[in-house]
Amino acid sequence: MAGYTDSAFRQIVKKLAPDTICITELISADGIKFKGKRTMEYLDFDESERPLIVQLFGKKPDFFQEAAQVVEAQKADGVNINMGCPARKVIGSMHGSALLTDPNLAEEIARTTVKATKLPVSIKMRIGFKEYDKKYFLDLIKRFEQAGIESLIIHGRTTSQGFSGEADWKPIYLAKKTLKIPVIGNGDITSAKIAKKRLKNLDGIMVGRATFGNPWIMAEIQATLEGKKYTPPQSLEEKIPLILEHARLAIESKDRKGLLEMRKHLAAYIKGFPGASKFRGKLVQVESLKEIEEIFDDIIV
Ligand SMILES: Cc1cc2nc3c(=O)[nH]c(=O)nc-3n(C[C@H](O)[C@H](O)[C@H](O)COP(=O)(O)O)c2cc1C
Repeated sequence: MAGYTDSAFRQIVKKLAPDTICITELISADGIKFKGKRTMEYLDFDESERPLIVQLFGKKPDFFQEAAQVVEAQKADGVNINMGCPARKVIGSMHGSALLTDPNLAEEIARTTVKATKLPVSIKMRIGFKEYDKKYFLDLIKRFEQAGIESLIIHGRTTSQGFSGEADWKPIYLAKKTLKIPVIGNGDITSAKIAKKRLKNLDGIMVGRATFGNPWIMAEIQATLEGKKYTPPQSLEEKIPLILEHARLAIESKDRKGLLEMRKHLAAYIKGFPGASKFRGKLVQVESLKEIEEIFDDIIV
């Protein structure tokens, strides 16, 4: 997720739940083609994150071809094509979920990317653009399968829905029945109990927003699916060592950018704890790891 699932956060998730398959933030295929310095930094990852999937967005098949080859040369473990992002500036350039409106182009991008690399290529998509149309949806996903896509991740909302309303999982189960390739469901997984309930015949569950401030949810889900028990840390005091480790990794890997991005993670970590609003104001303005440590020292006394 853009602005969240950077290398530091992925390392934290993997530490808690090693079975998680992490995907990078969406990365511009055009930016990779032109070797933009900032874009290339998004490709950095730590060995502990494996298997690490790099998500690309764009609209030009030949740029996806080159980008997939760069991703392979960087020794990532897979490529994912973004056909799910609803952000106005993304769909305005025919990127992200706008590709769902042009099946020929979407298929060409899928086919070209698959041909370009030995890595498995997956797609992340929504159930539709303006609305869910069963026939259109089934035709599209069959074309993806025929193009050689290795697995499909489906968010049960249309683009017009953005993030509102409830995710509709029926098209996701239908996709699983229709295709031979693995299908992973996404949308509104907020607990291990819901993850287990939603999994049904699917090959996996993708969790998004519920990981904000709560990477432990991935460990809970992993344990629940394995029939084991996992008790996440309850008090903020118990959570602090991991939060500080996250902050340290973020700052080490991306300096000031890491620090700035960490601010919203810090706000998410303390949400719901007594006095959160008072400390939130300070945490979203921190300027160093030392300052973060001092604020947490204050919180727990
Ligand atoms: C801030 C934010 C950034 C996101 N960035 C991406 C992204 O880069 N790539 C992607 O495929 N989905 C992205 N998503 C969508 C999520 O992956 C997911 O499909 C969506 O949030 C629904 O799942 P959830 O209910 O578990 O959050 C983003 C969502 C949010 C809220």
